[in-house]
Amino acid sequence: MEKFVITGGRRLEGEVIISGAKNAAVAILPAVILSDGVCRIENIPGISDVAVIVRILYELGANVKVINKSTLEIDPRHIASHVVPADLTKRMRASSYFMGAMLGRFNKARIAPPGGCDFGVRPIDQHIKGFEALGARVVIDGGMVDASAERLVGNPVYLDVVSVGATINIMLAAVKARGLTVIENAAKEPHIVDLANFLNSMGADIMGAGTDVIKIRGVEHLSGVTYSIIPDQIEAGTYMVAAAATGGDVLVKNVIPKHLESITAKLEEAGATVEEFDEAVRIIGPSRPRHCNVKTMPHPGFPTDMQPQMATLLSVADGASIVTESVWDNRFRYVDQLTLMGAKIQVDGKVAVIQGVEGLTAAPLHATDLRAGAAMIIAGLMARGVTEIEDITHIDRGYEDVTAKFSALGADIRRVKIINPNLRKAAL
Ligand code: EPU
Repeated sequence: MEKFVITGGRRLEGEVIISGAKNAAVAILPAVILSDGVCRIENIPGISDVAVIVRILYELGANVKVINKSTLEIDPRHIASHVVPADLTKRMRASSYFMGAMLGRFNKARIAPPGGCDFGVRPIDQHIKGFEALGARVVIDGGMVDASAERLVGNPVYLDVVSVGATINIMLAAVKARGLTVIENAAKEPHIVDLANFLNSMGADIMGAGTDVIKIRGVEHLSGVTYSIIPDQIEAGTYMVAAAATGGDVLVKNVIPKHLESITAKLEEAGATVEEFDEAVRIIGPSRPRHCNVKTMPHPGFPTDMQPQMATLLSVADGASIVTESVWDNRFRYVDQLTLMGAKIQVDGKVAVIQGVEGLTAAPLHATDLRAGAAMIIAGLMARGVTEIEDITHIDRGYEDVTAKFSALGADIRRVKIINPNLRKAAL
């Protein structure tokens, strides 16, 4: 086991290069199953969630060749099984994308219900509604989700909630179905557009991705292609907030500034200066953040995956801020950790009222989930003293080379092995 040890109080300065988007990669890699040829996927982030997806592909029988640190060549033609290994599926939410991809390829899929970060209930009813609309029969059998159809047939699907996962899964299942599928009230996140672009480059016929109506006309074949994944909006946003929180001056490179607009606008409201370039943004932090209110919304609103980082910044703002979480039921579990550092935050259901304090002081912390873990790093960078963060496997799920990237910006952050106290006693 490992932990991060951070000595706070250093201003971040310099440049950071953003990796490929986690939430695009974990959709595009399973989508390769639908191809009749070899796909070369570039700009894949080196994170543990991607490693799990690649492992699943490998165990299903795909031939996976490592070309370099961020490029894989995947040949899915020998995959014969439609059953996804349960132990791996349970490790992450995005493993559910194998359901849509398997249905799209074999007209059947058998998979354990997906795991992932704990934000309260995480249903998949909208995914199932979509599969059923395409003619699949979906049953739960022996703790596994079983979906099958003679042949999937395109149909309209109206999503009751705007769901990223359901939108992606229905696209995957529909891309080779017979006829036209129309997803209404679809999610519009950048990774949905990226998946549609990838499928279209293979020969799919998808229109409207990035709007709330996506039209998918089924095709018979999808061919192998070379495709480069978009930069990670949330990794970029995390470094932007970290720069603002330390009063720093950071150039965040390899980004699509359009994807960052809601984060940029909020940081400017909080007193930071943000300059946009073609593929980079520069953030100059304020001496103390201004208070402001934040409400998370599906894209193009402020992303829920940036909520803990932004709330951490606002914990030292010059007044009271209200943060409303409108996507997940329970995404404030990290607040207790900030309170240990001297933050004044009251949570009532989906609303946190933050009374800004002058500064935070170091405390022993743990990462309650991926983005909360990133927020704890930001808190450690801001705080006076030495902060230790445990349970960092959550952070490794979504941030590539996190210590190297922060260290290059001048942060004092180290990854340290945790010595089991029983072993230490035995050694003495
Ligand atoms: N929902 C339903 N029924 C469903 C699906 C979703 O009621 O069948 C509800 C959820 O309970 C939630 C809301 O709809 O309240 C939105 O959930 P969504 O399906 O959009 O989330 P997801 O696909 O499970 C993805 C990201 C999350 C991100 C959310 C929202 C991936 C792999 N995960 O999750 O990212 O928070 O969209 O933007 O793309 C992260 O990267 O840290 C992360 C958690």
